[in-house]
Amino acid sequence: MAKIIHVGEGSTSYKVIVSSNSLTKSNLKAVTRSSKKVLIITDDGIPKSYLKNLKDKLSEDIKIYVHKIPKGETSKSFTEYVKIVEKLATQKFDRSDLLIALGGGMVGDITGFSASTYLRGIGFIQIPTSLLAQVDSSVGGKTAINIEQGKNLVGAFYNPKLVLVSTSFLETLTNDEFNSGLGEIFKYSYLGNKKIRSILKNKASKVTEREPKVMEDLIVESIKTKSKIVTEDEKENGIRAILNLGHTFGHAIEAKCGYKNIPHGQAVIYGMQIIARISFLEGLIEKINYIEMDQILNSLNLDTNFQKFRYAELRPYLMNDKKVSGGKLNLILLNSGLTGYKTDKFDPSNFSKAFKLN
Ligand SMILES: NC(=O)c1ccc[n+]([C@@H]2O[C@H](COP(=O)([O-])OP(=O)(O)OC[C@H]3O[C@@H](n4cnc5c(N)ncnc54)[C@H](O)[C@@H]3O)[C@@H](O)[C@H]2O)c1
Repeated sequence: MAKIIHVGEGSTSYKVIVSSNSLTKSNLKAVTRSSKKVLIITDDGIPKSYLKNLKDKLSEDIKIYVHKIPKGETSKSFTEYVKIVEKLATQKFDRSDLLIALGGGMVGDITGFSASTYLRGIGFIQIPTSLLAQVDSSVGGKTAINIEQGKNLVGAFYNPKLVLVSTSFLETLTNDEFNSGLGEIFKYSYLGNKKIRSILKNKASKVTEREPKVMEDLIVESIKTKSKIVTEDEKENGIRAILNLGHTFGHAIEAKCGYKNIPHGQAVIYGMQIIARISFLEGLIEKINYIEMDQILNSLNLDTNFQKFRYAELRPYLMNDKKVSGGKLNLILLNSGLTGYKTDKFDPSNFSKAFKLN
C-alpha cells in the first residue's frame, strides 16, 4: 500500500506518495485536472520506458510536450534553463499548465527552477527516478541551476505540487548512483532517525540487494526526517542547516574533483567520516562511534577511503562553502547522542588531524 507523507504548511504544502509504483493515473489526475498542457523534462540517461509509461498515465485531453536534456551535471545550466522557458513561452503555457520532472536531482533542480521563474511561478510535479532524488532533492523545495562561478548559485525555494516516488525505478540504477543515494539515507540516521540506523545495521545485505520492501521503508523514513526539518524551517534560517551534515567536506571533495567521477552521496559519506573524526577530536563522541560508522558503511559495500584526499588539498575549497557566514565557517558536528548540530565553535587544527585517524 502506498505511504503518503505531507510536507510543508498552508497553501504550498504537498504530498509525497511512495510505493512500488506510485505513477498512476489517479495520482496524476489529482493535480493535473485543470491543466491543458504539460512539459515533461527528462534526461537521456533515463530508461525510455519510464517516459512512455508517464505519457500513458497522463489524461488524454492534456497536450504533452517533452524536453530531453543530455544527462550529467553540466546540463543544470543557464543555457538549458533558457531553452526550457523559451519552449514554455513559444507553446504559450499559462499558470494553469504544469512542468513534470522525470529524472534524478539534476532534472528535478532545473525543472523546479524553471517552474519557479516562468510567469513568476507555475506548478510542477517531481517524479524522482534516482535514489538520491527520492530521499533528498525532490523534497524540500530547493531548486537551482549552476553558473560558472559555482554550483547551485542561482535558485529559489519553490515547492512542487506533488512528488511521486516509485521504488521500481531503483532497479535500473548503476551501483554508483544507488550508493550515492545510500549516502544521504545514511546521513538521516545521524539526524535523529534511529529506525534507519537499525535497518542499515541489521539488514545490510537486503539493502545492497535493493530488496523493495526494505528500500521502501528506508525511503519513507528518510523523507519523514527531511520533511520534519524542512517544514520547521522552509527557507534555511535555522534547523534546516543540519541537513548539511557531511556536506562541508563533501562539497570540498566534489569541488576538488571538478564535480566529475564522484557521485554527490559518495562525497557526503567521506564528509561524514571526517566530521565524525573531528567530533571525536572535539571530545563530543567516543572513538567506537566513528569506528562503528565505518563498519556500517563497509557492510553496505560503500567506499570509506576518505584518506585518499589530503586536508591540504581540500582546504582552499572549504571557505567557499555556503555554510560560511560572515567569514566564519559553520560545521555540523555530532553530539554525544550521535545527532548533528550546527556550530562555529571548534578547533580548526583538528581538521588535519582528522585525516590521520584510522
Ligand atoms: N534540491 C535539493 O535539495 C538537492 C539536494 C541534493 C542534491 N541536489 C542536486 O541533485 C543533483 C544530483 O542528483 P542525482 O544524484 O540524482 O544525479 P543525476 O540527476 O545527474 O542522475 C544521475 C544519473 O543517473 C541517471 N538515472 C537517474 N535515474 C535513473 C534510473 N532510474 N535508472 C537509470 N539511470 C537513472 C541519470 O540519467 C544520470 O545519468 C545535483 O545537481 C545536486 O546539486 C539537489
